[in-house]
Amino acid sequence: MHFAISSAALTAGFLFLTPTNAFWRMPCRERSGLARIDPLVSPGSISQHAHAIHGSAGFGIDASYNDLIAGSCTSCQVTQDKSAYWTPALYFQNAAGEFQLVDQVGGMLAYYLLYPNAGNTSLSAFPENFQMIAGNTNQRNFTYPVPDIPKSNWNVAPYNTQAFLEQAALGFNCLNYAITPEGSLYRHFLPDKAYLDANCLDGLRLELMFPSCWDGQSFEIKDQKEHVAYPSEVMTGTCPSGFPIRLPSLFYETIWNTYEFVGQAGQFLVANGDPTGFGYHGDFMMGWDPVFLQDAVNTCTNPSGQIEDCPLFNIQDEYTTCNITLPSALVSENVVGPISSLPGNVPIASGPAPANGATAGSPVTGAPPAASSAASAIPVPTLSYSAGQSLASTDTYIPGGIFAVSVPTSTTIAAPAITTPPVAAASNTESFFSTEYTTSGRAVLEVLWVEEIVTVTDPVTTTVVVPGRKRHLRRHMHGQQ
Ligand SMILES: *[C@@H]1O[C@H](CO)[C@@H](O)[C@H](O)[C@H]1NC(C)=O
Ligand SMILES: *[C@@H]1O[C@H](CO)[C@@H](O)[C@H](O)[C@H]1NC(C)=O
Ligand SMILES: *[C@@H]1O[C@H](CO)[C@@H](O)[C@H](O)[C@H]1NC(C)=O
Repeated sequence: MHFAISSAALTAGFLFLTPTNAFWRMPCRERSGLARIDPLVSPGSISQHAHAIHGSAGFGIDASYNDLIAGSCTSCQVTQDKSAYWTPALYFQNAAGEFQLVDQVGGMLAYYLLYPNAGNTSLSAFPENFQMIAGNTNQRNFTYPVPDIPKSNWNVAPYNTQAFLEQAALGFNCLNYAITPEGSLYRHFLPDKAYLDANCLDGLRLELMFPSCWDGQSFEIKDQKEHVAYPSEVMTGTCPSGFPIRLPSLFYETIWNTYEFVGQAGQFLVANGDPTGFGYHGDFMMGWDPVFLQDAVNTCTNPSGQIEDCPLFNIQDEYTTCNITLPSALVSENVVGPISSLPGNVPIASGPAPANGATAGSPVTGAPPAASSAASAIPVPTLSYSAGQSLASTDTYIPGGIFAVSVPTSTTIAAPAITTPPVAAASNTESFFSTEYTTSGRAVLEVLWVEEIVTVTDPVTTTVVVPGRKRHLRRHMHGQQ
């Protein structure tokens, strides 16, 4: 069925759908650890690379759901959340070949975006023992157009594949609070040092969207990640067949102060030895009481996204620290630097061939890796700054606001990779973009939210950006790293 929809009709549709889209934003103000621990990929042993870890103190090399629940504290602000959230850390390698941890600004934000499937008003909470990984640590290339073609054309190969969606779920947001922010998930690779120096004066925000479609059967990673899948637009859209249950859509944000190395020769790398960013990834282990979480999913639907607006949540002081206990093999491992190799002696793999795999490592005893390539072997794409789109005509720009990836209001698509005509979707769907948070000294402003409607039509694609329903401005301090 081919049809075109007018802007007015779209807006009406949006208004009808609005009440079902809610979210909350879990601030995890401090890291609970920085260590080579990954109970999903390397259960029972020291993991290959170093992770920035947030959440329950019960986390460890073979942590289970019960261990997380039994943890004495959480570094996230809602005390009922004993989940574990972790991503690889970011390092800088200088011209002498030495590595140093990049400062993480604040802790992390974990968004719980509550998007039910089309035609359904409910979502399922994560079940006990649920775990998942987003991204692929071994990925080292990107074979799609840069920047992305509009989401409205993602309904054909290769864009309707999990392989594409998994790569489109990574974001490297160049932060410069003096200018209009970029949209979330705009750039899917690590910009090079020269680009970061020239443009990203406030550092880099790493963004990661998790799959939200579940097969309803398996919980654990040992079955690989095939128990979950991305919906058709990564964050929103429809679930593929075989994955009927819609979970909260998890979205991680961490900010790294890459600009502290301005002017120094060298390169940035993800802790898994990845200078491209294509292999960025993250892990989640559910640590809520599932009955409580279901209650929160059903009732904490205030569109403000503030945890304070959910009466169920116990909110702890944002400066509370909560640390995991390191295994003895890692207690004296230097993961901050300067160090002569990445923690775990991880070799640098610049692609385009896949990296060798995140095998479990052991404490570093041997010599540093022989040849660490200082320059990436593949041309990492360049993608210049593109201002996100401002919310509504009535909104005045505030640094730190939320801006969607800029899209024309009406576009006819002729994307080269599309071989069959786009098939019109049954109805419009929506996409959401994250909040930005911006630091001014040690004060953080958290603001805003934008919503975008993507409509698949043929031959004309209409994309309408509508104002966020509610915005708020909140100022607080974040702790020292
Ligand atoms: C609606 O979604 C819920 C939560 O994922 C699921 O349990 C239920 O089976 C869905 N209902 C239909 C009719 O698909
Ligand atoms: C947690 O670890 C950090 C960094 O090592 C340290 O500064 C802080 O004091 C620790 N907090 C507690 C409660 O042990
Ligand atoms: C690009 O990555 C894919 C998936 O990891 C891999 O199969 C392919 O061989 C890589 N391409 C090259 C040229 O190495």
